[in-house]
This record gives sequence, C-alpha cells and structure tokens, in this order.
Amino acid sequence: MGVKTLQEDRLGSQISPPPHPSSVKEEGATVHSSVKEEGAAIHSSVKEEGATIHSSAREESARPRSLVEGEGARHLLVAHDLVKHYRLPRESLFAAAPIVQALRGVSFKLRRGQALGIVGESGSGKSTLARMVMALEAPTSGSVHMNGRDLNALSASDLRAARADFQMVFQDPYGSLDPRQRVGRIVAEPLPTLPALPASERQARVDEALNAVGLRASDADKYPHEFSGGQRQRIAIARALITKPQLIVADEPVSALDVSVQAQVLNLLQDLRAQFGVAFLFISHDLAVVDHVCGNDGDEVAVMFAGRIVEQARSEVLFQHAAHPYTRALIAAVPGHVSGENANPKSVAPSSRVMPNAEATASGGCSFAARCPMRQARCDVEAPELRELAAGHLAACHFA
Ligand SMILES: Nc1ncnc2c1ncn2[C@@H]1O[C@H](COP(=O)(O)OP(=O)(O)OP(=O)(O)O)[C@@H](O)[C@H]1O
Ligand code: SF4
Ligand SMILES: [Mg+2]
Repeated sequence: MGVKTLQEDRLGSQISPPPHPSSVKEEGATVHSSVKEEGAAIHSSVKEEGATIHSSAREESARPRSLVEGEGARHLLVAHDLVKHYRLPRESLFAAAPIVQALRGVSFKLRRGQALGIVGESGSGKSTLARMVMALEAPTSGSVHMNGRDLNALSASDLRAARADFQMVFQDPYGSLDPRQRVGRIVAEPLPTLPALPASERQARVDEALNAVGLRASDADKYPHEFSGGQRQRIAIARALITKPQLIVADEPVSALDVSVQAQVLNLLQDLRAQFGVAFLFISHDLAVVDHVCGNDGDEVAVMFAGRIVEQARSEVLFQHAAHPYTRALIAAVPGHVSGENANPKSVAPSSRVMPNAEATASGGCSFAARCPMRQARCDVEAPELRELAAGHLAACHFA
C-alpha cells in the first residue's frame, strides 16, 4: 500500500497536493493566501548537493570532533550523540535521585531544505530532542551544530543572533500565543534578534509573513482569541517564518487541531517548503501526518523509542520495508494499512501500552524487548546498535 494512500485514509481528500489554494476557508472564516506574490520574498530557495544524510551513531562517535564540525559546515544541522538526563526529586531523604534518560545518544544530519520527520510514542524523547536542537536546553553530552557552529559553545549574544536561522512551532496554538498581544506584535516577536530594522521594514515583514500563511495584513491588529485553532497555528507559523529561517522545528504542530484543519495546516507547511526551501524537523506521534510533510525526495523519517532512534529511512522505504518491530507496529496501527511485508502478524507488537522510561532504559539489552514479538535470548543482554541495512536505511535490531 502506498504511503499517500495512508494519508488519504487518515485525512481523507482534504489533503491536496501543493500549491496552496489562493483562498482557504477555515472554521468559518475566509483567509487569503498570496504566498506566490508576496511570500516569495521571504526566503530564497536554497539547495545543497546531496550528501549522505545520516551515518550510524557508532560511526559518528568514533569521529574526531573537527571532522564532525566539517560535516556541520556541509549540512544545515548535525546532531551528534545527544544525551539528555533529567534528575528527578528524591523519593526519600536517603534514596538516590532517580534519573530519566530522555535521550540516549541521538545522531542525525539535515541538509538545507530537507525534512526529517521524528515519530514515536509519548515519552520517547521527541520534544526533548526538539529543545536540544533549538538550544533551549543544553544536552548532558553530545552536540548540535547549525551551519557548522556548535550552538552550545556560542555566547548568549551570538546564540540570540543565530536564532534567526532556526525557529519553532509548538503544539498548542492557544498556549503558545500571548493573549494580551496583538497578532502583529506576536508575529514580529523574533525580529529583535536581528540587527535593528526600521519600523516600516518591520511592518512589511509582518505583512509578508501573514500573507505567506494565508492571513491578511489587517489581521495584525487583532488578538489571538479572534482566531480559530487552525488560524492561530498559521499565526505561529508566520512568527516562525518572519526571520527567514533555514530550519523550522515543528513539535506536534497539528495534533491539537481538528482533522479537517490538520489537513489545511499540513498543506500550508508543504507549500512553505516548496516556496522558501526551509528545512523541517517535524515531530509527531502520527506516522501518516509525518509522511505528508516528509514525503518529498530526500526527506526522511526517524522512529524514536525510549530516547533512541531505532529506525531511519526515506519515507517510502520506511513504509514499504520497515525493519524494526516497533516501526512495523506503528505502521500496522495506521488505520486501513495493509502491506505485504509489514502485514506479518508476528511483526506487530502485542501491546500498545506506552512503556515507562525507567523500564525501557534500565536493561542492558534491547529497550524494546519487553514488547517485542521477535525477542530472543541475545536481545536481553546486548543492546542493538543503529546500523545501516541498505544505503540510507538504518535500524537498531539484531534481527533486522
Ligand atoms: N524537564 C523534565 N524533567 C524531568 N523529566 C523530563 C523532563 N522533560 C522530559 N522528561 C522526561 O523525558 C522523557 C521524554 O520526554 P519528552 O517530552 O521528550 O517525550 P515526547 O516523545 O515528546 O512525548 P509526548 O509525545 O508525550 O510529547 C519522558 O520520560 C519525560 O517524562
Ligand atoms: S533486538 Fe530483539 S528485542 Fe530488540 S527489536 Fe530486535 S528482535 Fe526485538
Ligand atoms: Mg512531546
């Protein structure tokens, strides 16, 4: 079964291929898009010669730092062996403080204009990864390089300036917009990180960003409560676009929206990719949604489980030839999905329960073992490395 068919099953005919319509109706309101005319000035399309997107975590760990930095210069984003531990409060005076291993060695690379989808169940570390990439928190170890620069080595002022290149769209279109600010001010909020702009230029940038997401310039004078959920998410996307970023990190950007509105916002994100060449790190627990945004040539999907990437491949490869039992379980759970290779009932994990982080990360073996129908003795004592099964297809399973 084709990947697109999965989307159609999930989202129905509301998902249409780009280009974005010049006018869309959303939850009762008509919003106008002038992406083509106005938006094109926001960001010129940038493309880079295709280099290998990802090599295994083990390969990366073995490389000297200078080489990793060299790759950082070729790639837009290089995340190298990211580990993040959170220390929880002690349960008693004499007990050791429990540690949550939210990320356990995550490495990937992103080329300019490329989209990488991150999918995984609740607690698998997706948002933690987003915060590391956005340098909102420092990793326990590992590094994030944007355009060859180690974000965690930058001074506070250099980091502020660098933030123009990478922006974030959050899940909650209600909580992420300050209800006391007018939309124009919200959208312009990232601009102070740039060198001072004249007021007229600021206004022009706000108009341009609002137009690019299908809103009117006059919407700048309104407050967030005057907009629907989908329109608010458009405002959040306009705010992310205004600095002409090279990368947008979107953490579950449509999961709070109705399915019909999800389709419109997903189409908009696809349009913006086509128009501006912006790269995406797109996070969702929903494979069909990830596939819609990350289905272009060269795009990839990474599947996370218990703080690690357990499989990564081009989107269509992942859907047709998933190698990890967890990925197969995710695909099997997509409504209406039937596929020769992935329909093997043995490949479907027996439980859909979310595994507590402590349980999944405690054993020295494979963290998926407790739920794996293919588990063997080796799985309990040896953690599988993420290894390359075929060009660009990585999986962490002894028997993949
Ligand atoms: N600030 C924090 N303090 C303590 N533990 C944390 C913190 N942030 C995340 N965690 C823990 O780290 C693990 C990964 O959390 P994270 O929010 O990254 O998962 P997620 O994949 O984004 O989940 P969801 O799909 O529910 O958003 C979880 O066990 C979570 O409880
Ligand atoms: S290594 Fe073993 S337990 Fe882990 S996913 Fe593969 S077969 Fe299952
Ligand atoms: Mg999350």
